[in-house]
Amino acid sequence: MPDQAMPALDTEVRVGTMMSGFGNHFASEAVAGALPVGRNAPQRPAFGLYTEQLSGTAFTVPRAEARRSWLYRLRPTANHPAYRAYGKKTLLRSAPFDEIPPSPNRMRWDPLALPEAPTDFVDGLITYGGNGDVSDGRGAALHLYAVTASMQGRAFGNADGELLIIPQSGTLRLVTEFGRFDVSPQLVALIPRGVRFRVELPDGPARGYVCENYGALFRLPDLGPIGANGLANPRDFETPAAWFEDDDSPCEVIQKFQGGLWTTTLDHGPFDVAAWHGNLAPCRYDLRRFNTINTVSFDHPDPSIFTVLTSPTDTPGRANCDFVIFPPRWMVAEDTFRPPWFHRNVMSEFMGLIHGAYDAKAGGFAPGGASLHNQMSGHGPDQASHAAASMAELKPHKIDNTMAFMLETSAVIRPTRFAVESPLMQLDYDDCWAGFAKAAVR
Ligand SMILES: [Fe+2]
Repeated sequence: MPDQAMPALDTEVRVGTMMSGFGNHFASEAVAGALPVGRNAPQRPAFGLYTEQLSGTAFTVPRAEARRSWLYRLRPTANHPAYRAYGKKTLLRSAPFDEIPPSPNRMRWDPLALPEAPTDFVDGLITYGGNGDVSDGRGAALHLYAVTASMQGRAFGNADGELLIIPQSGTLRLVTEFGRFDVSPQLVALIPRGVRFRVELPDGPARGYVCENYGALFRLPDLGPIGANGLANPRDFETPAAWFEDDDSPCEVIQKFQGGLWTTTLDHGPFDVAAWHGNLAPCRYDLRRFNTINTVSFDHPDPSIFTVLTSPTDTPGRANCDFVIFPPRWMVAEDTFRPPWFHRNVMSEFMGLIHGAYDAKAGGFAPGGASLHNQMSGHGPDQASHAAASMAELKPHKIDNTMAFMLETSAVIRPTRFAVESPLMQLDYDDCWAGFAKAAVR
C-alpha cells in the first residue's frame, strides 16, 4: 500500500498480547497494514516505515539454525551519532575474565542487598564470573542484578550475546523493540543479541540473575528417547506482539560491545517498530510449565534431564551452556539416595535459587544467593542433607515450593574480583562437607 494516506498510528493496539511458540516464524503488526505482504523489502513500505533486517545467525547457516527478523520502524536504527565510552563505573565484566586466577575452590554467596542509591538495570548488573571469548562467540557470563529504579530515557542493547534473565524477586517490565512484556519470579526472559530494551520496575525493586550467552543461541534440547513431548514444551514460550512508542524525546542508548559499555543519544525513542516478522525475537517462559521427568525406579538421573534450554558447541552433547532447573517434583525412587550424589564433573556449575530450598543443602543457600562448583571440584550433599537422606523412609515424597537453577558450562567459570572479594562470599562453605564419618570396611 505504498501510496495510501498515512493513518495515525495507535500505540495501544495489542499491548500485552503474547504469541505462543519457541523460535516460530511470527508475523505481527501494531497497526493494520504496517507489515508488508509477500515480500520483505517493498520499494515503499506502508506509512513510510523503514525496513531493517536483524540477523542472529550467519546468513548461510543450515535453514533449521537460521534466526533473523525483519523490522518496520519509524526511523532507521542506523540514524545515530557516534558512540562514546560509557563513563560510569559498573561491576559488569566480560570475557576473558582475567582479573584474578581461577581456583578449584567451591564458592557460595549470600544474596545481594538492594543498592541504597537509585540503580537501574544497566548499572545494577554485577558479574560473578564467566568464560570463553566474546570476539569468538564462545562461553558465557554470569551476572546478578539488584535494581531499584526503572530505566528512564535510556535503552540497553548487547552486541556480545543473548541475555537469559532469571528474576528472583520483583517484576521486570521489558520494553523491547519487538513488544513489551513482564517477567516475575519463576518466569525467565530471553533477549536476543542486539535487541534494544528498557527495564521498568512496575512493582518496585527487583533482584535476579542473568546469563549472557556469547555462544550458539539457546534452543530447546533434543529429547532423544523421551520422545516428541516433555521438558520445556515449545508452545509455552511466549513472544510479544508488535508494539511501539511514537516518542520524539531524547533517549540514551547504551550498547555493550566486546565487553565495554558504549553510549550514544538519539533524538527519539528506539522502540519504534510498528511491525515485524521472523524467528528472532524476545520471549519468556514460565518455569512452572516445565514437564519434569525423573526416575520411577531407582537412582538419581543426571541433571541434564532437567534442561530447559541449551547452547550447543560444535561437539555434539558438549554444551557451551545449559540452563537447568530443579522444580517441584515427586521423588519415588526405591532403594536410592534421592538427592544428587557426590560428584566431580568435567562441566562447571553455577547455581542460583529463585525460591524455597534446594534439596541437596540443609542451609546456607538462600534465595537470591549463588554457588560455583567448577570443573572437577568435589561437591554434593552437605553433611546434614546426607545424614537425613540416608535414613529417610522412602515413601513417595513431593519436593515442593522450590525453584533452583543451574547454568552449566563446558569451560571453567572464572570468577571476578568482586565475586571472590565480596563479603557476600561464604568463607566457611567448605565446612558443609566436614564431619562425614569414615566408612567401616572391616
Ligand atoms: Fe553439581
